[in-house]
Amino acid sequence: MSDSARLKSQMFRRKPAATLMAEADDEASGLKRALGALDLTMLGIGAIVGAGIFVLTGVAAAEYAGPAIVLSFVVSGFACAMAALCYAEFAAMIPVAGSAYSYSYATMGELVGWIIGWDLVLEYAVGAAAVAVGWSGYLRIILEGLGVHLPVALTHAPGSVPGAIIDLPALLIVLVISAILYVGISESARFNSIIVAIKLIVIGMVIVVGAFYVKPANWSPFAPMGWGGVMKGAAVIFFAYIGFDAVSTAAEEVVDPKRDLPLGILGSLFACTLLYILVAGVLTGMVPSREIELNAPLASAFVIRGLNAISGIISLGAVAGLTSVLLVLLLGQSRVFFAVSRDGLLPPAFSRIHPQYRTPYIPTTITGIAVGVTAALLPIQEIAELTNIGTLFAFVLVCAGVWILRHIEPDLKRPFHTPLVPMVPILGMFFCAYLMSSLPAVTWIRFFVWMVIGLAIYFSYGRFHSRVAHEDASAAARASAD
Ligand code: ALA
Repeated sequence: MSDSARLKSQMFRRKPAATLMAEADDEASGLKRALGALDLTMLGIGAIVGAGIFVLTGVAAAEYAGPAIVLSFVVSGFACAMAALCYAEFAAMIPVAGSAYSYSYATMGELVGWIIGWDLVLEYAVGAAAVAVGWSGYLRIILEGLGVHLPVALTHAPGSVPGAIIDLPALLIVLVISAILYVGISESARFNSIIVAIKLIVIGMVIVVGAFYVKPANWSPFAPMGWGGVMKGAAVIFFAYIGFDAVSTAAEEVVDPKRDLPLGILGSLFACTLLYILVAGVLTGMVPSREIELNAPLASAFVIRGLNAISGIISLGAVAGLTSVLLVLLLGQSRVFFAVSRDGLLPPAFSRIHPQYRTPYIPTTITGIAVGVTAALLPIQEIAELTNIGTLFAFVLVCAGVWILRHIEPDLKRPFHTPLVPMVPILGMFFCAYLMSSLPAVTWIRFFVWMVIGLAIYFSYGRFHSRVAHEDASAAARASAD
């Protein structure tokens, strides 16, 4: 075989779906199966409702979309729904920890699989860093409400305000959550359910109480920056939907993944879409869009209308909400590393299971430290946009994957069918690409640089250590010996 033919066959070798399914067996995986459909929906809502609605809604409404941010949520929600329908088919069919990484490895080959895996780091780890920064901001608001003023130098990323050195609360919360994940998944799920309940009560309160303070005059002009503003707003608040797919990374810890994964993914996305549209309508009805505050838009809308106590409760809910988002994103990241390493594309340490806690403790530790440092040193909006572009790209490839797999492996057992293939995957790809195109050039450049680093790792390490490659080679050796 010529060198270029060998390289091509390496890059496009696929991991058979049957192998993936076998790995998801309890014995092979080593992870503990403890989660059900309700746990997953809670895990989904825990991952979804966070910095997007509590923080980024402010920028999207005040600077881009105005009251038409309601439409931004509809556009982004539609793109996510299409992608979620595709995720659900994969997640039910190949319920393994690697999520989009594993699906694309099985369908589009090793190189695309790796690219997606690398891309998911943007979604989970970089996204977690953005959420930690939002968490720190809300903590500051609560403490200030209590008359406690932390030093600026220790609570902001360098460059964000004069005198800032490090965002220490952001670093600390990441380390605490990582420690919880190190100890185990079922403890983590219980902890998550309690926080999610608090968060839902607070969001419900924003909608119900806020509705009494809506002045319809605030809804006009409805779209001050036209359709372009709506789309830019949609590309920013897309962050608010990220996380429904994180449900799928817990696949190997689910008792009945074929039934529960689609339920968890679609259920949590649907619930959040509804809540967001209501919250956005209430917020823009309570306060004129250009007066919406950027760091804590929901809490400050209630202050503007003289409801200080409610504002305090919202801030507490935001801190709880962002905590559970962090939990799921960090969980997702360590599980993706686990899956990639099990395939040999990252060193074996990343898939070592803790003898006592049965968790992938090494990626959990590494992720915790890297995310904590990022959160301590970088501003939120830039991190969130990078997260969005990476996630949107992963969604495009997952949609393509469903369509491709229907052709190349039509007979695989599919407990859940994405409806209207190829229309749903095509719509998903189109809308996600459209949202990507609405992000600023600097985000595209960062994304490109990130991808180049990822390719360098694949071509210098993964390509030579791939387990699928070694299995192929030993099968070929056996065949020639026979
Ligand atoms: N959707 C998550 C959030 O809004 C990532 O924080």
